[in-house]
Amino acid sequence: MVNSKIGGIGFYVPEKRVTNHDLAGVMDTSDEWIQERTGIVERRYAQKHKESTATMGVKAAEIAIERAGITAKDVDFIIFATLSPDYYFPGSGVLLQRAMGMNGIGALDIRNQCSGFIYGLSIADQFVKTGMYKNVLLVGSEFHSCGLDFTTRGRNVTAIFGDGAGAAIIQPTEEEGKGILSTHLHADGEHAEKLAYINPGCHGGVHLGTEKFGYPEQEFGGMWLTEKMIADEDLYPHMEGKHVFKFAVVKFPEVIMEALQKNGYQPEDIDMLVPHQANLRISQFVQRGLGLPDEKVYNNIQRYGNTTAASIPIALCEALEEGKIKEGDLVCLAAFGSGFTWGSALIRW
Ligand SMILES: CC(C)(COP(=O)(O)OP(=O)(O)OC[C@H]1O[C@@H](n2cnc3c(N)ncnc32)[C@H](O)[C@@H]1OP(=O)(O)O)[C@@H](O)C(=O)NCCC(=O)NCCS
Repeated sequence: MVNSKIGGIGFYVPEKRVTNHDLAGVMDTSDEWIQERTGIVERRYAQKHKESTATMGVKAAEIAIERAGITAKDVDFIIFATLSPDYYFPGSGVLLQRAMGMNGIGALDIRNQCSGFIYGLSIADQFVKTGMYKNVLLVGSEFHSCGLDFTTRGRNVTAIFGDGAGAAIIQPTEEEGKGILSTHLHADGEHAEKLAYINPGCHGGVHLGTEKFGYPEQEFGGMWLTEKMIADEDLYPHMEGKHVFKFAVVKFPEVIMEALQKNGYQPEDIDMLVPHQANLRISQFVQRGLGLPDEKVYNNIQRYGNTTAASIPIALCEALEEGKIKEGDLVCLAAFGSGFTWGSALIRW
């Protein structure tokens, strides 16, 4: 069986920079608070009426396709990872497909939040390894600023997230020992509501088997978006930050070690760790635990915030463009996020 590799990678971030000071102008927060807790200095916001999750994905995909030395016509499958799709349905994959003139091929939308790129990479890897597809386009794109709460009530979530897109072409490689060595996926739905965007949704007013939301019962319809949800402004992402932090700092190292052990490596064998950019403090915690020097961990959350499914391809692409990853390097990707879901991928570049 052949291995698969990342044959081309690209990213796009919107032009508009939003600093912590800008946020402090609309909610009770400060540059000092945000930097101290998250490392974030600024993030990018997409331009409303001009950009969307799919359009940003297209821009990143065009670069990835060109760098892979193919054209859009050569792509034989699309995987689109996002938690901020253009529409509730259909998914953004078909919108990207239409915009890029790739009609007819399969388009799979996946919803694994911050682990979306790793989950997508694992799916693409299986398709390529089995010989089913030769050029899988994997996109991670997020338009968070569209659905955040810009009042003080939403400050713990809003301060963290930014917009952007990353894309990669996954292709077969004939080179022995090169490419994606393994991927590792995990989830624990016990924490589903700890980091979640619940309304509007088809939950029927019930937390699956746990507790009632307390929305008024009605016989037909209406639970997706009720007047009460609107009146309560119960329409924004919810995050229990400390709970997320606590699990992230355990699961990140665990899943990185799983990938290393599977392939007979130690942390010191890693040439570059590209963690999902959740929070700089989480990355630093993981880095210390694994004993990795600064030059072996790539972080750019300071400039882009947390771009969820887009964060790993954006960071990986920047690391490559800056010459920080070379041919033959051992690259580890790792993510943790809503679900909770987490995963890793080990790649011999
Ligand atoms: C979000 C996070 C930075 C919050 O930091 P924290 O120290 O845990 O803060 P808490 O949520 O407990 O809130 C502490 C106080 O700070 C306040 N606060 C929250 N966000 C704030 C902000 N942006 N500016 C100023 N104050 C803020 C809270 O309202 C709270 O105030 P109170 O004590 O008066 O009630 C931190 O929990 C975190 O990074 N968690 C991980 C989140 C993450 O990585 N998510 C993405 C996963 S993919």
